[in-house]
Amino acid sequence: MNYRNLGNTGLRVSVIGLGCGGPSRLGQRDGKSTKHSIGLVRKALDLGINLLDTAESYGTEEIVGAAIRGVPRDRVVVSTKKTLPEPDDPDPAATIRSGLEASLKRLGTDYVDLYHLHGVGAARYDFAAGVLAPALVRLREAGKIRAVGITEEFPANPRHEMLQRCLHDPCWDAVMVGFNLLNPSARRSVFPLTLEKGVGTLVMFAVRRALSQPAQLDKLLREMEQRAALEPGADLGFLTENGCAESLTEAAYRFCVHEPGVDVVLTGTGDERHLEANIAAALKPPLPPEALERLEALFGNVDSVTGN
Ligand SMILES: NC(=O)c1ccc[n+]([C@@H]2O[C@H](COP(=O)([O-])OP(=O)(O)OC[C@H]3O[C@@H](n4cnc5c(N)ncnc54)[C@H](OP(=O)(O)O)[C@@H]3O)[C@@H](O)[C@H]2O)c1
Repeated sequence: MNYRNLGNTGLRVSVIGLGCGGPSRLGQRDGKSTKHSIGLVRKALDLGINLLDTAESYGTEEIVGAAIRGVPRDRVVVSTKKTLPEPDDPDPAATIRSGLEASLKRLGTDYVDLYHLHGVGAARYDFAAGVLAPALVRLREAGKIRAVGITEEFPANPRHEMLQRCLHDPCWDAVMVGFNLLNPSARRSVFPLTLEKGVGTLVMFAVRRALSQPAQLDKLLREMEQRAALEPGADLGFLTENGCAESLTEAAYRFCVHEPGVDVVLTGTGDERHLEANIAAALKPPLPPEALERLEALFGNVDSVTGN
């Protein structure tokens, strides 16, 4: 495994992290057993992954807690998230504190390395920064959180407006951003700022459905053509030809891992063989320059899709 600094957080993280949400939720969405999901997390740790990303809303914190029991605490970077309190919450800061305590209990630990506000849209950013961030900073000072994070609501905001605002505020140690070869817009609008400010950067949606299911990709490309977001007849076959990559999924993870400004790419899976393949992909070199040039020509200006 290769490891990188997560911005200036002081955390050292594997280049690929295990996402415990997304379409798979460690296999829980497909009805896999808790034992299977715990085994998957342990396998990820055995293979050198040290960052596990969950959330109070995923229903996988207890699985992560069971999987890390007995693992020296400083060998794992635990990342979890808090859904925003409702607008009429009489004491949102208290809701943040009690939410963290509940997450710590489910995770079986007394601190989390990364605690994010989950899926923050542009419309709620003032509330997040003005009311919730001070509560998070106090929790960081108290040692309950090592780094304060915020994640975007990518499907509703594929142009990253919220992140572009938040990166001008000093309270965020890390951000989670949607980025993939179909919508690389964070390359222009987010990564220059995270690099300048030393903010840790986690990527989600590297593959999602469009880059792991051929029928979904075809549907998305045809929709993009109809909206004139793509030249007619666009096809990603070149990524798996002439020794470029063994699969589209491999190409998609490699595309993200080697992007300057990306610290860790999350992979969400419920399948051990996919996990092994995705780790192997993350350790391969960048895609060949000619493939990257073709991707830039096709999708370089796209900022309207997520690949979901
Ligand atoms: N706003 C937020 O805060 C937010 C939103 C979304 C996600 N996240 C985080 O980001 C993590 C990553 O999520 P993501 O959904 O974007 O992950 P992803 O890795 O881009 O996509 C996961 C999907 O790809 C499939 N897949 C993975 N590897 C594969 C392979 N080798 N071959 C074929 N299919 C493969 C998975 O199915 P299988 O199970 O069959 O492998 C799953 O359906 C989540 O788990 C979560 O922790 C955060």
